[in-house]
Amino acid sequence: MVRHCGPVHVESRACVRDTVLGGRRIRRGQIVSCFLGAADRDASVFPEPDRLVWDRTPNRHPGFGRGPHACLGAQVAVEVARHVLGTIGRRFPQARPAAEPVPRPDVTEHGMYSLRVSS
Ligand code: HEM
Repeated sequence: MVRHCGPVHVESRACVRDTVLGGRRIRRGQIVSCFLGAADRDASVFPEPDRLVWDRTPNRHPGFGRGPHACLGAQVAVEVARHVLGTIGRRFPQARPAAEPVPRPDVTEHGMYSLRVSS
């Protein structure tokens, strides 16, 4: 789900020295923004990228960032989601979406205002 519809879509870095990235010159101090949401749907990396495949393997998506500043809470987030979604699924096995989700429009961080379900 973090790859398919994760919350963080853009992250930025300030370049600490002149460098070349993807054939482009980047000067010290310039800001580079990475569109994680676009990388998450890269068809050359993820076959059928628009499909939510629960057991997609490999699934090396950048939704939690990479490198020294990668998400410190990634494992917590995965465990909480597994627990919460598992509990809802067990306690309300008939739960189904009751309305279209109401998305929270935000360029960098995606989410929902609401997702109504019937049980
Ligand atoms: C689905 C849930 C989450 C997603 C998709 C997510 C995603 C991210 C992303 C993309 C970054 C930026 C990484 C980078 O700049 O390379 C980040 C940073 C961070 N996240 Fe999360 N995060 C989630 C939940 C959490 C939770 C639950 C916690 C804390 C318990 C947390 C704590 C942090 C911290 C402390 C950083 C900053 C790390 C640093 O700058 O060194 N995150 N997260």
